[in-house]
Amino acid sequence: MSANRPGIAITGTGSYLPKRVMTNADLEKMVDTSDEWILSRTGIRERHIAEEGEGVCAMGAAAGRQALAQAGVAPEEVDLIVLGSFTPDIYLPSGSCLIQDMIGAKRAVCFDMAAACSVFLYALETARCMIASGAYKTALVIGAEKLSPFVDWDDRRTCVLFGDGAGAAVVQSGKETMGRGMIANVMGSDGSLAHLLTVPGMGSRHRLTAEHILNKDVCIKMAGNEVFKHAVRCMSDAAQKVLDMAGMSMEEVAVVVPHQANMRIIQAIENRLEGLKGKFYVNLERVGNMSGASVPVALDEAARTGVVKKGDVVLTVVFGAGFTWGASLLEWGY
Ligand code: UT7
Repeated sequence: MSANRPGIAITGTGSYLPKRVMTNADLEKMVDTSDEWILSRTGIRERHIAEEGEGVCAMGAAAGRQALAQAGVAPEEVDLIVLGSFTPDIYLPSGSCLIQDMIGAKRAVCFDMAAACSVFLYALETARCMIASGAYKTALVIGAEKLSPFVDWDDRRTCVLFGDGAGAAVVQSGKETMGRGMIANVMGSDGSLAHLLTVPGMGSRHRLTAEHILNKDVCIKMAGNEVFKHAVRCMSDAAQKVLDMAGMSMEEVAVVVPHQANMRIIQAIENRLEGLKGKFYVNLERVGNMSGASVPVALDEAARTGVVKKGDVVLTVVFGAGFTWGASLLEWGY
């Protein structure tokens, strides 16, 4: 938890969605489901799916280039690249290094972070702290996910939910017009509930075997109902907490950009936090749940379409596997 110092703000955003669109009608041909069930239980109509060979880093680089152009920052000016993702192209070296090379940010220090669907907010706060230390001025923070290779396309309880994509933000200090910048942030984690949302076979505990692949151990496993309840409670509490911490009222918030997991989760949060009703930016109908890419893509869309304007107070609120959660209040910087 921290009350943030002024003058560090998001000065540009970008996003990238793969060309291929998978509709609910497409899923009807793959598993025992219906457009009616998916739409009424999740709010999702379609999602984007990356091609074979199109990785998180290419998607993240595309979003990153757009964010740099928006901020008027040259790649050589970037001091720091933080990639938030649990699906990087490869595990060694880090995806952020691959992105650095793709965009030509030769001076940047690069590292990856993992906090599942919450990771963009974690990465943003990490970049803010590093900039606040005075050691860095300009960071490129990217949330990118290619979930499709880790989806069990035979499991109707999960395969209808996820999509691929990338979003990015330039975070800078030192510009005169930045106002309050990144106003306040809260984050939390509870590893005792790790088993409720996990990819059990992706990692070093066991050497990967053909059996793991046949058992779908490298696919996302989720206890949907349990996750749903925790998501509503944690995101509502985090939103209230960050407002209390900043001494701000719900009326002062122009737009809420929540993690885009399920329309019913978002509605439940709206019902708990009456003063924020009608302020939620939602795009999951078109993109599904893109984990760590959901919030940066939604932020970029909201800014590009004029839903979020310079000086607006934006509340972002996230929840994901771990469990991890958080909320940030940002004064929009461009
Ligand atoms: O991003 C990280 C955080 N993730 C989330 O926040 C996701 C949270 N969870 C959810 O969004 C919801 O729990 C789901 C969308 C995953 C599931 O919705 P639900 O309303 O909780 O459904 P359920 O799992 O309780 O299943 C209700 C019924 C079951 O049938 P029976 O056992 O009652 O006969 C399921 O088998 O709906 C069935 N069902 C489906 N039917 C048609 C589950 N998935 C489907 C489907 N199509 N795709």
